[in-house]
Formats: sequence, structure tokens, C-alpha cells
Amino acid sequence: MALGKSFFTKILILRSHLLGLEQYVIDPEREYQKLCKQLKGTYIQIGPNSNTYINIFDIREESLEEGKGYLATKISKLIGFFKLIFGELDEEKKALLEEKIIELYEGKGINFDDSSLYKKEEGTITIKPVFKESKDMPVLEEFYEILGKDKKTKQMQIKLIPFVKGSLNFFNNTTNVVLDNSLIVADVYDLGEENLAYGMYLFTEFFWDKIKTNRNKQKVIYLDEAWRLIGVTSNKEVASFLYKIFKTIRKYGGSGVAITQDISDVFSLENGIYGKCLLNNSSIKMFFALEEENIKILSENTSLTEKEKMEIKSLRKGEALLFAGDEHVLLKIETANFEREIIE
Ligand SMILES: Nc1ncnc2c1ncn2[C@@H]1O[C@H](COP(=O)(O)OP(=O)(O)OP(=O)(O)O)[C@@H](O)[C@H]1O
Ligand SMILES: [Mg+2]
Repeated sequence: MALGKSFFTKILILRSHLLGLEQYVIDPEREYQKLCKQLKGTYIQIGPNSNTYINIFDIREESLEEGKGYLATKISKLIGFFKLIFGELDEEKKALLEEKIIELYEGKGINFDDSSLYKKEEGTITIKPVFKESKDMPVLEEFYEILGKDKKTKQMQIKLIPFVKGSLNFFNNTTNVVLDNSLIVADVYDLGEENLAYGMYLFTEFFWDKIKTNRNKQKVIYLDEAWRLIGVTSNKEVASFLYKIFKTIRKYGGSGVAITQDISDVFSLENGIYGKCLLNNSSIKMFFALEEENIKILSENTSLTEKEKMEIKSLRKGEALLFAGDEHVLLKIETANFEREIIE
């Protein structure tokens, strides 16, 4: 039911943009293109016909996780990514995969010593070391070659064929988009259900790095159609990554907005732990009108009074019930003409 969730989100993005917030949007329905254009944001579309790329092998200056070096951080992220393609890996396979990743980066002069991530310019005295750029990073095809050289990893190489030579070869490119923008929209529409997880992994990792960059800046990440990302059809790797983001985003001065139509899907993966985490870590919850069945699922997972159940059922388009702590407020989402012109 179209009741104004995405509309409200667009208004939120527009108004927050005017306040100078950094915003990142994952857009599975290609709904945010116009808004992004109007606000001069960076629009990244990935899919078979796209020409904007983000390279999964990028290590960015912000990529560092507490207590780990750059390469070690990247290796664990990449193993997560490759599990989406190769399936669950036993310890031996994981070790092999790690060995090959190390070899790949070694070829680019990158190793476990974090200083190897900085450029060394011979003959000049560098005042501030410069972090390596996208063009200094390996691409998938180079990894593919490495996997092909060892018969123990030949099977893995074969599974990468579509990503290097086939329909998914947009994964085999150096990053070519302006990533330094206060509004970035990731359009994953063309990926379709079966490839959505790969794109999600790529963007959540990238957005996560952006979020960590400057703790003093307010930022927001939006996930529209979140049920597709954490519901039954989607993937455990991706869901647990999102779970982590929603749990820790506040530490970095950020907030997360998850938007969903289908409550039952959100609570279906892994007995609903991801859905519950999202809900329990949300300081503000907004409910648009729901049908009986979804209200039932919701009340099994949260505490709703009979009166609230009635209220949620009778909401109309552009109306929502807002929960902030113990406060419950009925909202009517009103907009100015100029705002509607920008978003629609
Ligand atoms: N507050 C509002 N004021 C004016 N028009 C609105 C408002 N909310 C929604 N609309 C209109 O209703 C249409 C559908 O709303 P929207 O796309 O936000 O629904 P949705 O809840 O995201 O639905 P879906 O579940 O299909 O994603 C919008 O394109 C817009 O024209
Ligand atoms: Mg919508």
C-alpha cells in the first residue's frame, strides 16, 4: 500500500540536505533519482548497463576498524563478500582464499604494514603522506587470474566468471564516481533479486566507511524497501552487516532510517533477530497504516496498546503514528509546493 513512506523519506532528505547533513540512500526502486539530481548529489547506478563503478577491492583511508590494520580489515570484509558468491567456506577454503587475497594486494605493493597503503614518491620529501587511490587498487580480474593459477582454487575461479567476463562484469572495474558529496544515492534496481546481495554488500561497506569519516558531522543512511535487504529473500551476510550498522551508527554521529512495507518479511529471517534489532535500536519509530495481519506481527514483537492498534489501522495517506520513547504522537505530513516540485 502506498501510504507515503517514500514520500516522507524524500521530504526528510530534502530538508536535512538544507541543514547540511551528509546523507546516503540505498534505493532498490529507482525512486530517488530526481531528488538526487535536483540536489546535485552523486547518483551511482550499478547493473549490466551502468557506467558508474565502485570497486570491492578498494581500501579507503577511512576503512580502518578499531584494533585491526587496513589489510586485515579488508580481508575479513572480502571473505564476507566472497561467501555470497562461493557459499559457506570451511576453514581450509577460507585460509586458501585469504592467502590469495594477500597475494593479490602484494602485487600492488600493499601488505599488513599500514604504511604500504601510502604512496612513496621517490626523490621528493613528502610532507603529508598520501593515501593510495582507487587506481592503485587491484580489480577482480587480477584476482581471477590468481585463483586460476592454483588447482585448489580453480573452482572458485569458475564461479567468478560472470563477474569478470559475463553479465555481472561491472564488478570488474576501478571506482569512477565522485564519492565526496553530501548526498549519495545507490541505485540497485537493475541488480534484480538474485544479485541484490552483492550490490548491497558493496554499498553498505562503502557507506559505512563514509559514516566513519568525520564523527563531528551529522549523517544519515536510508534503506528504503528494507524488507528486501533483511527479509527472507535476502542474505544473512548482508543482514548481519546492516545489523551492525544500525547498532553502532550513533557512535559515529549518524542515524539510520529503515523503511519497510512488509513487517512479516523483516521478522522472518533467523527468527526475526535482525528485525527485532532494527526495531529495538530505533529511537524513533513511525507507523503508517497497517493491515490486521501486520499489526498482529508487530504487536508480537513490540508492545502496542489496543488503542494504538486501532489508531494504526485507521491512518490515512500522509499520516503516521510516531513513537519516541514513551511519547506517541499522531503526525500529518504536510509539504510546500516547492518541496513537492523537487521530489516528484
Ligand atoms: N504527505 C503527502 N502529501 C502529499 N502527497 C503524498 C503524501 N504522502 C504520499 N503522497 C503521494 O502518494 C504517493 C505514494 O506515496 P509513497 O511512494 O511515499 O508510498 P510508499 O508508502 O512508499 O509505498 P510503497 O510501499 O509502494 O513503497 C506519492 O507519490 C505522493 O504523490
Ligand atoms: Mg516506497
